[in-house]
Amino acid sequence: EEKTGLKDFLHIDDFDKGTILKILDRAKEVKALLKSGERTYLPFKGKTMAMIFAKPSMRTRVSFETGFYLLGGHAIYLGPKDIEMGKREETRDVARVLSRYNDIIMARLFAHQDLLDLANYASVPVINGLTDYNHPCQIMADALTMIEHIGQIEGTKVVYVGDGNNIVHSWLLLAAVIPFHFVCVCPKGFEPDAKTVEKAQRAGVSKIEITHDPKEAVKGADVVYSDVWASMGQKEEAEYRRQVFQGFQVDEELMKIAGPQAYFMHCLPAERGVEVTNEVIEAPNSIVFPQAENRMHAQNAIMLHSLGL
Ligand code: CP
Ligand code: NVA
Repeated sequence: EEKTGLKDFLHIDDFDKGTILKILDRAKEVKALLKSGERTYLPFKGKTMAMIFAKPSMRTRVSFETGFYLLGGHAIYLGPKDIEMGKREETRDVARVLSRYNDIIMARLFAHQDLLDLANYASVPVINGLTDYNHPCQIMADALTMIEHIGQIEGTKVVYVGDGNNIVHSWLLLAAVIPFHFVCVCPKGFEPDAKTVEKAQRAGVSKIEITHDPKEAVKGADVVYSDVWASMGQKEEAEYRRQVFQGFQVDEELMKIAGPQAYFMHCLPAERGVEVTNEVIEAPNSIVFPQAENRMHAQNAIMLHSLGL
C-alpha cells in the first residue's frame, strides 16, 4: 500500500533544508502553545500510535507518549518483551498488522535494516526512535535547542567528543542539509561510519572533520556535545572502552579551552564521571535539560509533518 501524503521519518537527510527548518518552526509554535497551557489544539484526536521498543528508554518513550496524548492522540507502548519483532514474529507481518490498527508507528530497534523493513511494509508513517545507526529525533531536538539558545544552527561550530556512534551519524546527516561546522573528535578506531562521513562531505553543505585531539578540536566551539562511550547493545564493552577513551572526558578544563561561548549538550542518559564530569553537566552553560524537554516538541512537529497535518 502506498503512503499517499504520509511520510516516514527515518533519516534527517531524507528531507531538504526548507522542510527541516519548517518542522523546527512548527515545533517552536506548538511548544509555545503547549507551554501557554492551551489544551484545545488536538490534531491527533481519534488517532493512535504504536511504539515499539527493543531497547530501554526514558526520554523517547515518555516524550512521544506525552506529546501524542497532549495533542489529542493515544499511544501504545510495546516493550522488548511484548512483540519481540523479528523473533516471535517477522518484521513485515508486524508492519502490516499494526498499520491496520494504528495511524503511525514509532520504533526503537537494534538493526537499522529492521527499521527500513518496518517502514517498507507499513502503510502508515514510521518514525525512527533510535537504531544502532542513527537517532534523528534526538538531533532535531538538539537543533531546536540550538536555535533557542544560539539563534541558529547555520554558521555554528558543533564539536562532538567521544564515540563515533548513532548520534554522530545523525549530526552528519543534519550537516548534509544545513551548513555548519561539525567536528567529531574520537579515539582512533571509533570513527563514525565512513560511508556516512563521505555522504555528508559529498553533499558539500558543511565543513566536516573527524579528528583525534579533543583539546585542539573544541577551540571556538558553540556546542560541545557528549554521549555515552558504550551505547545500548555495547554495555559489555564498557570497561574496555573506559580505558581506550581516556582523555575524551568533557571536563571543566576542556570547556574552558572551548571558550566562554560554548554550551554543553548531551543526549542523556549520561554517566557522570565517565564521558562528562558532574561539574560540566551542572554548569550554567549546560543545556541538557532544555534539550531533553525539546524531544517532545521536536517530535510533535515531526509527527504532524509525517501525518500531513
Ligand atoms: N536520549 C534518549 O533517546 O533517551 P532515552 O534512551 O531515555 O529514550
Ligand atoms: N548512543 C546512545 C544514545 C542513547 C540515547 C545509545 O545508543 O545508547
